Parts: sequence; structure tokens; C-alpha cells
Amino acid sequence: MNKAQLAPSILSADFANLARDIELVTEAGAEIIHVDVMDGHFVPNLTIGIPVLQAIRKITTRTLDVHLMISNPDFMVERYIDAGADIITVQYEASCHLDRTLNRIKDGGVRAGIALNPHSPVHLLEEIACVCDMVLIMSVNPGFGGQSFIASSMKKIMKARELLDSENPGGLVEVDGGINSDNIAGVAGAGADILVAGSAIFGSTDPAAEFRSMNSVIEKVNR
Ligand code: DX5
Ligand code: ZN
Repeated sequence: MNKAQLAPSILSADFANLARDIELVTEAGAEIIHVDVMDGHFVPNLTIGIPVLQAIRKITTRTLDVHLMISNPDFMVERYIDAGADIITVQYEASCHLDRTLNRIKDGGVRAGIALNPHSPVHLLEEIACVCDMVLIMSVNPGFGGQSFIASSMKKIMKARELLDSENPGGLVEVDGGINSDNIAGVAGAGADILVAGSAIFGSTDPAAEFRSMNSVIEKVNR
């Protein structure tokens, strides 16, 4: 049985009070903070970038899990490494030279992930799964928080787990999008190691309590 972890996504946090919101979920036990970078090109939304990541790095020692929803990530990975990322995930669909990009991330001492959009099948990763540290299954179309979990993602989570077990047994499966208290047990049970949740946590009236509550469901699956 996997030991899954819940990673709050600050996309749904209060951007005017990021330090406070990160502190809230950290106090509640979060070990991983998910940071969504969007460029207004790969996805139709613009969020945060290098200066904000640098600022967050100064106020937390937690794992910063940086999800790059940007075109041509190859041009930018060194700058995110320098800004303090612990994990950098690039979108499969945005990367022309994925093997090179993943190796550059790892050469920088940072764990490297590949994210797959809902339309991209897991078998695309057969030859590259051994190079990455993590496969991120997007369970919504990237670009926005607060969307509904796409049900067919469950099958992809299981396929990603199987692929990694065969090609890269230490590799992690992350799932991102539409995770809430209703579906979190199923997602963890399907083989997810890191479960990202944004609006379910920061959209609630008490983010710390919601983190604890969702995390306790994962811990039951872990047992
Ligand atoms: C969506 C982002 C997600 C987002 C998830 O493109 O990659 O990380 O924050 O938000 P929720 O949990 O609200 O679906
Ligand atoms: Zn994300």
C-alpha cells in the first residue's frame, strides 16, 4: 500500500496573504506545497512566476512542488531551479525535448516530473518513465482551479502506477485537479502518491481543518 500525501495548491489561496495561507496548511501538517505556474499561452490563464516562488522559498522549508503549465519549459527550468523549487513538473504536451529537459532538472538537484493532460494516454510515457521522478495525471484540463474531477482519470492513475512499477519502481504518481473529500479516498486507493487539492482546501471556511480532514481520509487508505 502506498503512503500518499496531500499537497495544497496555493492557486486557490489568498494571493494577498500567501505567507499566512501557507503557514495555515503547514501548521495543519502539509509537507508539500503545490505551486501552479501558468503563462497565459500554454493555458488560458496567468498566475505566478519566479519572483513569487523566490519569495515563498524564503518563508517555508516545505517541499515546493512547482507545476509548470508553460510553453517551452526548456527555456525556463534553470531559473525555477535557482528560485528554490524542490520538484519541477513540465507538461508532456509543451515539451519538444523532454529527455533533455528532465535531465537538466535532475542535474540541478531537483526532482523532475511529467504532467499528462486529460487527452494524453499514459502509454506515451513508456520510453521516458525511467527518466522522470514523477508522473502527474491531470484530472482536469489545466488552467483553472475549482473544476470537476474527470472520471476517466482513475484508469490513468492505475496505468501510471503500473507503468512506473515496471519501468521505474521508485517513481511517484501525482494527481491534480478536482480532488475533494468525496473522491480523495478513491484517488489514493488507485495508487496516487501525491494528491493536489486547491479549491477544496483554500475555498473552505477553515483551510487547516479541511486539510486535516482530507488528510485523515488518506491516512486511513495508507493503513
Ligand atoms: C489546475 C492546477 C491545479 C489546481 C487544482 O490547472 O494545475 O493544481 O490548483 O485546483 P482544484 O483542486 O481546485 O481543482
Ligand atoms: Zn497543478
